[in-house]
Amino acid sequence: MSVADPDSVLARMRALGGSWPTPTILDTVDSTNRALAEQEQCIDGQCVVSDEQTAGRGRVDRSWVSNAGAGLWMSVCVSLEGVVPENWPLLSATAAVAARTALSNACGVTVGIKWPNDLVVEPSLRKIGGLLIEVVGNCAVVGIGINVAWPAQELPTPESTSVLVEGGRIDRGELLAHVLVELERCVERWRRSPEDVLDEFRRSCVSLGRDVLVLLPDGSTLAGTATDVDHGGRLILMSGETPVFISAGDVIHATITPWDTPRNS
Ligand code: BTN
Repeated sequence: MSVADPDSVLARMRALGGSWPTPTILDTVDSTNRALAEQEQCIDGQCVVSDEQTAGRGRVDRSWVSNAGAGLWMSVCVSLEGVVPENWPLLSATAAVAARTALSNACGVTVGIKWPNDLVVEPSLRKIGGLLIEVVGNCAVVGIGINVAWPAQELPTPESTSVLVEGGRIDRGELLAHVLVELERCVERWRRSPEDVLDEFRRSCVSLGRDVLVLLPDGSTLAGTATDVDHGGRLILMSGETPVFISAGDVIHATITPWDTPRNS
């Protein structure tokens, strides 16, 4: 089943105020990130979406289960031309903020962001989506995977959830249009004022203020309190008295007590 009709997605994008081009909508592909990375030119907003991916890729070399009809599997080009390299890492936070807003507006599902860019529902912290950003020359390929229509008994992992399971609206064409329009807005903000997007990321980040365990890429772990995210997109973990700056890893939440919940409850 096709994700949506490209012309109707374009009409919806325009109605929402977006100016990016019509997305390419496929039935099947190995990975939408791989398909876009092969483009000769980097055109802002150029997008490939597929009903199914046969070799979907996740962060840190993991695979991403992308069954037909189950999700929104999409990748978008963002040009890095004219953006100082110090600001590149915040594109990941930018895309996560955009996907979060789109999920709320298109599906009515409220999500938080688990550092670095997992989209999770509260209070369970089950993952509803994830992002994979790959840089090819001066082009960032922003890959977004959102679990849309998986029924509870078919979810890819016990820690995941879907828009369907969370009781949201499951129109993938509508969600696609919202993601593209929000991403266009957030990318523009990131280019103008990365600090502004970082602040929104901090407000949406469910990891901050929590005691966490971080699983590092080399397999080791580090425990501490997640206190902030810096301009390089790094998680600042207070491990005892020492701040540790973490560029890559998986956060495991040791407690689900956020800052705004009474500590003694
Ligand atoms: C993660 O590990 O959380 C990131 C998952 C990213 C999956 C998306 S689906 C569309 C795009 N194409 C891919 O091969 N991966 C990303």
